Amino acid sequence: MKTIGLIGAGHIGSQLARLAVKNGYDVVISNSRGPETLADLVRELGPHARAATPDEAATAGDIVVVTIPLKNLDDVPVAPLSGKVVIDTLNYYPQRDGHIADLDNEKTTTSEMVQAHLPTSKVVKAFNHIYAAELTTHGQAAGSPDRRALAIAGNDLGARKDVAALIDQFGFDTADIGPLSESWRIQRDTPGYGPRRTAEEMRKDLAAAKRPPK
Ligand SMILES: NC(=O)c1ccc[n+]([C@@H]2O[C@H](COP(=O)([O-])OP(=O)(O)OC[C@H]3O[C@@H](n4cnc5c(N)ncnc54)[C@H](OP(=O)(O)O)[C@@H]3O)[C@@H](O)[C@H]2O)c1
Repeated sequence: MKTIGLIGAGHIGSQLARLAVKNGYDVVISNSRGPETLADLVRELGPHARAATPDEAATAGDIVVVTIPLKNLDDVPVAPLSGKVVIDTLNYYPQRDGHIADLDNEKTTTSEMVQAHLPTSKVVKAFNHIYAAELTTHGQAAGSPDRRALAIAGNDLGARKDVAALIDQFGFDTADIGPLSESWRIQRDTPGYGPRRTAEEMRKDLAAAKRPPK
């Protein structure tokens, strides 16, 4: 695994690109406005980064991160992501994304929506509950006392392991929630969403999360 593709190069996408380059990956970043608008970021990231279209980033990535507003999910290319591990950082903010009845009613989760849009990809929810700035300031070497943990969820165990290994390289432990249907445990307004947590603390927060009634 050598190349990380990014669909979305905003607060989270640019930070994950920085972590990826720092850890020896090539990155292909993309946004909605076109590669030329990413020239400054590519310059900052250096020779292991290039800007491209979302289709090209999806094709190039061994792992691809989708990190855009949820309202634009339908724009994410499906075919080039087939069979791949796709990391989904998306959260639902109705004021930005518009109201989505199945989320308002807790019938589904944002990650299950991503998986439904990408039926042949292995979607793993990750990086959705940490502020973008903290991605490059809170990481610590494996084994550090009180190392911060990030929650992951996904239906494919192998994909969850791949993403946990990547997160470990990026400086964080993981707390594995299990399948995407359980990913509501780390959605907006749950105890683990936002604060710094060790793996043990995060597991307690995930267990304590309450899903609003349907
Ligand atoms: N900010 C945080 O601390 C944080 C933390 C965890 C999770 N999240 C979640 O992660 C996602 C990204 O958040 P963010 O804060 O990084 O957002 P952001 O700063 O607004 O950046 C969004 C990025 O997505 C790109 N984009 C939008 N529509 C696209 C499309 N149709 N195709 C390709 N690229 C598209 C934008 O490109 P253009 O600028 O060219 O439109 C931009 O690069 C959101 O779902 C958010 O809720 C955010």
